[in-house]
Amino acid sequence: MAISEHETITQRTATHAPADEISPRIPQVAGGFPTQRLRRLRRSEGLRRMVRETTLDPADFIYPLFVSENITEAAPIGSMPGQSQWPVSAIAGVAERVASLGVGAVLLFGIPAEKDEIGSSAWSEHGAVQQAIRAIKAATPELVVITDVCMCEYTSHGHCGLVRDGEVQNDETLELLAREALSHATAGADIVAPSDMMDGRVAALREALDSQGFSQTPILAYSAKFASAFYGPFREAAESAPQFGDRRAYQMDPANGREALREVELDIAEGADMVMVKPALPYLDVLARVRDRWGLPLAAYNVSGEYAMLKAAAANGWLDERRATLETLTGIKRAGADLIITYHALDAARWLREG
Ligand code: PBG
Repeated sequence: MAISEHETITQRTATHAPADEISPRIPQVAGGFPTQRLRRLRRSEGLRRMVRETTLDPADFIYPLFVSENITEAAPIGSMPGQSQWPVSAIAGVAERVASLGVGAVLLFGIPAEKDEIGSSAWSEHGAVQQAIRAIKAATPELVVITDVCMCEYTSHGHCGLVRDGEVQNDETLELLAREALSHATAGADIVAPSDMMDGRVAALREALDSQGFSQTPILAYSAKFASAFYGPFREAAESAPQFGDRRAYQMDPANGREALREVELDIAEGADMVMVKPALPYLDVLARVRDRWGLPLAAYNVSGEYAMLKAAAANGWLDERRATLETLTGIKRAGADLIITYHALDAARWLREG
């Protein structure tokens, strides 16, 4: 008996319904409009609030801070309106403001007085980051202090590792990173976060920390860190632009999603306690895939260029800054991030408080 073309299409639709493929957890419902009217639950803020799937909490935010040895007063960063480099002397006051808004943590970057070929000021006991950690811990002991572990702010060539014959040396860099992380832990850092993208750095840091009595210091790995144009404003803020070439021989190719999963898998195997995807907005698919596969805490870095874009549009009156910012952060969280590293942290925390 011949099947009509209509029936064939119906059967095919039933067995290959796209919703099945996207998420087997969403039950298939018979019928539709007018029985189903999704607008019923959107009619008032009370109803919308009840069915909201994603909410932002200031405790999920991590606020990046630039601490410089070269200034005595806050130095505003031109390409990041509202953000500044801070002298060590101001950092306790800033930390108190961050804590009072309920923001979960700060992420420290250091700008040293002296740079050299191997970035030796990265592990100086009197470095900007080390001093800032002690100042914050004295003023607001409950505020979580995370430190960025990388060489690029400290090397004269601006690369994230030791350079020989024009190439960043992987294995020799590991020892330098381990020294830096140990120095941060010794100063009192709660979490260390390697952002260099050398292979094997998580294992190197874990081993060094464990052997020196810091087996309880967690590692937040910048696991899937892409070679991104969106780091431009940060390099002005951290004075860390590479003096030759670029970072594509160690940071990831923006085209690669499956490779990002391998990076995450290896970092977990080496002992990462938390992992990160960076930047956030062009990589929300990567974030969602990591979330689907692993249960450990997942951070997204809403980077300097993402911040600058939104600020620039808002300053021109092209976007409503508050709504666009909260929508952006909600989207990052909905995609799978537990934690969001963001320069918007203080503004967003204030707006969330105001309701
Ligand atoms: C250091 C580092 C960078 C960022 C965080 N850690 C810059 C880079 O890799 O060039 C970028 C953060 C941002 O753009 O907000 N390696």
